[in-house]
Order: sequence, then structure tokens, then C-alpha cells
Amino acid sequence: MPAELISVNALAPEPGRIARAAEILRSGGLVAFPTETVYGLGANALDPAAVARIFTAKGRPATNPLIVHVATIEQARDVTAGWPETAQRLAERFWPGPLTLVLPKNATVPDVVTAGGPTVAVRVPRHPVALALLNAACLPLAAPSANRSTKLSPTRAEHVLRDLAEHIDLILDAGPTPGGLESTVLDLTTQPPRLLRPGLVSPAEIESIVGPIKRPVAPAAPAEPLRSPGLLGRHYAPRAPLECVSDDGRQRVQELCEQGLRVGWLTFTNEEAPQGVQQIVMPRDALAYAARFYAALHELDQRGVDRIVVALPPQSEDWLAIHDRLQRAAEKAR
Ligand code: TXA
Ligand code: MG
Repeated sequence: MPAELISVNALAPEPGRIARAAEILRSGGLVAFPTETVYGLGANALDPAAVARIFTAKGRPATNPLIVHVATIEQARDVTAGWPETAQRLAERFWPGPLTLVLPKNATVPDVVTAGGPTVAVRVPRHPVALALLNAACLPLAAPSANRSTKLSPTRAEHVLRDLAEHIDLILDAGPTPGGLESTVLDLTTQPPRLLRPGLVSPAEIESIVGPIKRPVAPAAPAEPLRSPGLLGRHYAPRAPLECVSDDGRQRVQELCEQGLRVGWLTFTNEEAPQGVQQIVMPRDALAYAARFYAALHELDQRGVDRIVVALPPQSEDWLAIHDRLQRAAEKAR
């Protein structure tokens, strides 16, 4: 049965609508909801059957653990075993917000959530709808991004509908998510802490609170053991093959057009594109780019392009998360 879609006010969510979504979660259903990063696909994190439905809906390998969303630091402590001072400092600085902390898991968290592993990833989201839902459901919610595994993350309810309509019970539609890119995932079980997935909170911001952290090297080689799906190769990928170029991309776009391909082009230049090219002019600020990024790729897929050419952003560290996603999106399917 296709999902029910309810619109909610992004700033002041209507309590009746949130209560309905909470009820579905409490009875083991799946609800897609907006966070400040991307839409999440939520289930009661303490109900193994409900969580199993997330894996089925996404076609996600059971080896990929989920993020547990909670409303408060106290609830985060309840799903972990041990709460180091670094966790407290980071939580006080960045929560509610797009930072996910990996810590030893509490025995109450079912294995299906953590893919059988000894750690749990936890965060307090900032979006008023997500917070209202967590408070109304009175539950920790396991919620990955609400897309099929390896595909583009959803920043609008319609992206969720397109990908997962048949698999979920309800979508709370609060319009586009403001951040547009996933949370930063930080492993606090190692010394120094290790950045597992770059995201909206930058390494420099984290280091200003806890001192030096370990950066990810490059996307893991396929033979490496799976530490985090954030380290998988192809991920966050549009339907059309995507390639990155170090100049503005015009020449490559021209070449592909001459081969008769329909080309999508993410660029910083608003000079006119070759005839027929689907050009999207991207912001020069990294956070503004992030907010636009997945939506732009969804648009190009919708317009049916055969190929996407992306002009690479600057190499500075404020673009780390964007480079990470571009690199994975450009990986060939294996
Ligand atoms: O912004 C976000 O984080 C969004 C919204 C919905 O909160 N969620 C999200 O979830 O991106 P997902 O499942 O698409 O990505 C979760 C990331 C993966 O890279 C996964 O490897 C990592 O978090 N992760 C989850 N649990 C982990 C654990 N116990 N150890 C290491 N990495 C973990
Ligand atoms: Mg995801």
C-alpha cells in the first residue's frame, strides 16, 4: 500500500499530525520525517521487527548499522554504555544538530540496529518536526536516510515518495530540509576520536571542542573490512553516471553533447551552457552548496539526463563533505 502523506508546518508542527505519526511508530510502523539534514526513515529503535522493516524497505545490507535519534542528552546516555566527557562536551556544543556520536552500545539496543556490533551511533536532530516526533513517540528512533540503499539521499518528501512509497506507512512532509547533507559521524570509541563520515559539522568545529581527531583517508578499498557504510565505495549516487572535472567542465560537457548524450552540468559559472544542456549553477559557499546538492542531482535525474558533469569545488576543508559525496557518487557500480 502506498504511503500516506501528511504535510506539517516545519517550524510549528501541528500536534495532532505528529501524534498520528507517533502512534504509527509506537505500533511498529515506519514513518519518514524531516531532519535538519535529510529525510529519515524512522522506526522504534527498541523494536527489532520494526527496525528489520527499515532494512527491507531500503534494500540495505544487514551489515550497515543505523543511527539512533533521541530527543535529549539523557536519552542518548540511555542507549549507550558509558558517556565520556568528550561526548558530553560535543553534545552540549552541537546538539540538537547534525553530529552523530559512535559509542559503546547499551544492552537495551537490539543487535539489528547496530548490525550486531558493540557500538551505537546516536544524535539529537534539530528539526522541529523530528524533535516533536521524538517527544510524542517517547521512543528512540532508528532512522537512516529515507532512500534506497546507495541512492541519492532525500531532501524533499517527493524524493522519499519516489523511492520508498510502497514500503512505508506515513511521510511527514515539511518541505525541503535546510541542511541538505547528512550529519557528521564521529567515532568516540577510539583515541583520538575518528571521523567516519564528513558532514555538516566540520572537523575544525569538532577539534575546537575536543582537540585533534583522525580524518578519513580516502574511500576504503573494497577489500577493507566494513567499519562504516560511510566508507563504502559507491553511495549517494544519482541514476545517471556522474563524473567530476577539475576545470569548469564546459569542455567535457561539449564533448559529451557531441556524442549525442543529454548532459546535466553542476557548475559555478552562469555563462550560457551549450544548447540542450541542463545546467545548474551552484552556490560558491560550501554550506549553501550542501543545501542544494542532492536536490540538484534529483532534478537532473528527473529531467532524464544520460550523464552528469560536476565542476569540482575548491579543495579546502570546508568542502570535505561535498568532496566525499562527489567521490562516492562518481564510483562506478560494482
Ligand atoms: O543526517 C543523518 O545522519 C541522516 C538523518 C536521517 O539523521 N541519517 C543518515 O543515516 O544519514 P544513514 O543510515 O543513511 O547513515 C548512517 C551512517 C552510516 O555511514 C553508518 O555507517 C554510520 O552512520 N553508522 C551508524 N551506526 C554506526 C556504528 N555503530 N558505527 C559506525 N558507524 C555507524
Ligand atoms: Mg544514507
